[in-house]
Amino acid sequence: MDYAYCGKSGLQLPIISLGLWHNFGFINDYKEAREMIIRAFEKGVTHFDLANNYGPPPGSAESNFGKILQENLASHRDEMIISSKAGHLMWDGPYGDGSSRKYLMASINQSLKRTGLEYFDIFYSHRYDPKTPVEETMQALVDIVHQGKALYVGISKYPPLQARQAMNYLKERDVPCLIFQDKYSMLHRKPEEEILDLADEFGSGFIAFSPLAQGVLTDKYLNGIPVDSRAAEPTGFLQKGQVTTALVEKVKRLNDLAKQRGQTMAEMALAWALRDNRVTSLIVGARNTDQLNKNLQVLQNLFFTPDELLQIDEILDGATLG
Ligand SMILES: NC(=O)c1ccc[n+]([C@@H]2O[C@H](COP(=O)([O-])OP(=O)(O)OC[C@H]3O[C@@H](n4cnc5c(N)ncnc54)[C@H](OP(=O)(O)O)[C@@H]3O)[C@@H](O)[C@H]2O)c1
Repeated sequence: MDYAYCGKSGLQLPIISLGLWHNFGFINDYKEAREMIIRAFEKGVTHFDLANNYGPPPGSAESNFGKILQENLASHRDEMIISSKAGHLMWDGPYGDGSSRKYLMASINQSLKRTGLEYFDIFYSHRYDPKTPVEETMQALVDIVHQGKALYVGISKYPPLQARQAMNYLKERDVPCLIFQDKYSMLHRKPEEEILDLADEFGSGFIAFSPLAQGVLTDKYLNGIPVDSRAAEPTGFLQKGQVTTALVEKVKRLNDLAKQRGQTMAEMALAWALRDNRVTSLIVGARNTDQLNKNLQVLQNLFFTPDELLQIDEILDGATLG
């Protein structure tokens, strides 16, 4: 595994991190989840990304992770970076959603209890909440650090204007924003417009989520929608209708280029997202250990020629996963 310093901090992250959004809840295969976490750690994936609401049911990914950690990796706690977040709907009533101090403080206590951890390495405000002053949310993050419940803090999916306000607030209180987490892949390039520059300006790292566009940037959908795929599930954030013929045609052409580079489509998509050194790490998701192992092969070829990058831009031609 390669490690990169997170912005101007002294914290190094593996360039590939593992996310527990899908496949780690009580509805999933516990043995497979345990296998993925243990194998990932053995391969140097020291960073595991959680959120209060990951499951399903919400909270169960944290519970499962805590159990797996206690039963298999407890003595390795200090070799790991474990993050969690609060910001999306978690419990009923006005205090289980958004970004109020009340929600963040209650949520981190619940997350610590579920995981059995004494502290999180990174705690995020999961999203900007237009109904809560940025200052209130950021002061909650500052206090969370002062209370020893998290070592570092980050923000996720904030629009550039509010991200700047948040980073300024944190900087002025000597609890710098360690990291910005946002969606970033060949099919979602918005962070290139402002966020990567902003993170760099504040000395924050940047960590990309859904770098494989939830599986679309693999060879999975080249011949239709397989039963064992995210797009085949009736609910969720990747729907069949998003995997259009036009998009699949582009991925086919990208897949040909990946072959010329001696890589799989997934490996090339990950290497591409890491080509900018402002990107500290990618949070990948995986259905099983096989997918994870395959994706870690990306480390063998991270280099692109200018011509390859040009070809990728031409093929994409501004395409996004709608
Ligand atoms: N901050 C936020 O708001 C936010 C939002 C979303 C995610 N995240 C974080 O980012 C993490 C990653 O998100 P993601 O799961 O969407 O990432 P992703 O890496 O883009 O997608 C992962 C999915 O792609 C498919 N896949 C992966 N490797 C494959 C391979 N080699 N061959 C074929 N298919 C493959 C699998 O889906 P199949 O099930 O189809 O096999 C897998 O579950 C999450 O777990 C979470 O920690 C954060």
